[in-house]
Amino acid sequence: MTDRMPIIAGNWKMHRDHLEAIQLVQKLAYHLNPEDYEGQEVLVCPPFVSLRSIQTLIQSDKLPIGLGAQNCHDQDEGAFTGEISAGMLARLDVSYVLCGHSERRALFGETDEVVNAKVVAVQRHGLRPILCVGEVQEERESGRADEVVIDQLRGSLQGITISDAAELVIAYEPVWAIGTGLTATPDDAQQMCAVIRTELAALYSQPIADGVRIQYGGSVKPGNVRELMGQPDIDGALVGGASLSSEDFALIVGHRR
Ligand code: PGA
Repeated sequence: MTDRMPIIAGNWKMHRDHLEAIQLVQKLAYHLNPEDYEGQEVLVCPPFVSLRSIQTLIQSDKLPIGLGAQNCHDQDEGAFTGEISAGMLARLDVSYVLCGHSERRALFGETDEVVNAKVVAVQRHGLRPILCVGEVQEERESGRADEVVIDQLRGSLQGITISDAAELVIAYEPVWAIGTGLTATPDDAQQMCAVIRTELAALYSQPIADGVRIQYGGSVKPGNVRELMGQPDIDGALVGGASLSSEDFALIVGHRR
């Protein structure tokens, strides 16, 4: 087994203006101890309009916090009113981009094909995709959760080479657990993350599968993070609601204390 550096990311969704965003990161840094950062990556994914302000804060205060974006367009430039390219994000020192979050899939019609094009664009600019996959409630209840997640994975990774696959982060986010307060049991989350790893081994190779980090997302809170992170195939958390509280997110990041 390869050692995988855990990665804890806060997905702020469409919350906080740029002034509130600065405050949130300042408070987060205040609540975190140096050892909380050791051996793991900490990331915030604010709305686009706050990326520049937070980048400046991270740089000037030398904070060991990474910057992620929540989305991007698959083209580098062009007549795409309202869109942001991966190249623009790279210029702002963004290092990760969420691709195919379930809200993008459900509310903005992103198919696996669209998500695939975004993963390709993100990697073309030297950024790392956090590829989100997950089943809806009805798919879980009808016993199709594994099949759905495997299909999303295959569809979103079309044409991704073995060397690019090594750079991926996958976020398993059961849709029924997002923003609902319902969390997958650590056993269920582990089981699906193991399924994802097995599929990565089939698509690429065992060493690639062993190296790719898989996050769990869906109502991660200070009270459940330790048990989730204790699972052998869970290497991180993608945190929505709880990442908007500097105290809660610091407790999640500092879950090893
Ligand atoms: P949640 O969101 O933690 O509020 O459930 C997770 C996500 O959507 O990434």
